[in-house]
Amino acid sequence: MNRKKFIRTCTAGCVGLLVAPVFLQGCAGTKYITAPIEGSDIIVPLSAFEKVKDDVIQYLRYVVVQNDTLQFPICVYRISEESYSALWMKCTHQGTELHVFGDKLQCPAHGSEFTKSGAVQQGPAEDPLRSFPVLVSESVLKINLR
Ligand code: FES
Repeated sequence: MNRKKFIRTCTAGCVGLLVAPVFLQGCAGTKYITAPIEGSDIIVPLSAFEKVKDDVIQYLRYVVVQNDTLQFPICVYRISEESYSALWMKCTHQGTELHVFGDKLQCPAHGSEFTKSGAVQQGPAEDPLRSFPVLVSESVLKINLR
């Protein structure tokens, strides 16, 4: 290995070490749950958003909800105690399943990005994500799939 190739290899390795935690953090923070469907609603317990740390209840910003009968998962954002946003994780460009990173959803196919309300933040997608009405009912969310 010559000097130039050695420096290039070392630089790539260092950059990789610096960038990797950012991606790992995005994946590690995602909680997936499987939720039942009752009638036209998928039922998500509010406790799915809870995380106990040092005996204090904290709340996850989002949870990814799955069910075997659904072709794509649904990303449910907790906007506030009374307000949630439920988004179909199917890219509106060509239908690839989205990944969630914090407050945005990204498409691994061509790089489209969507906000936590489903609006397009970066193309090539032009249309917002499909969203579902969410009803907060006692200890559960009822997400209407119609
Ligand atoms: S399929 Fe998502 S950007 Fe193309």
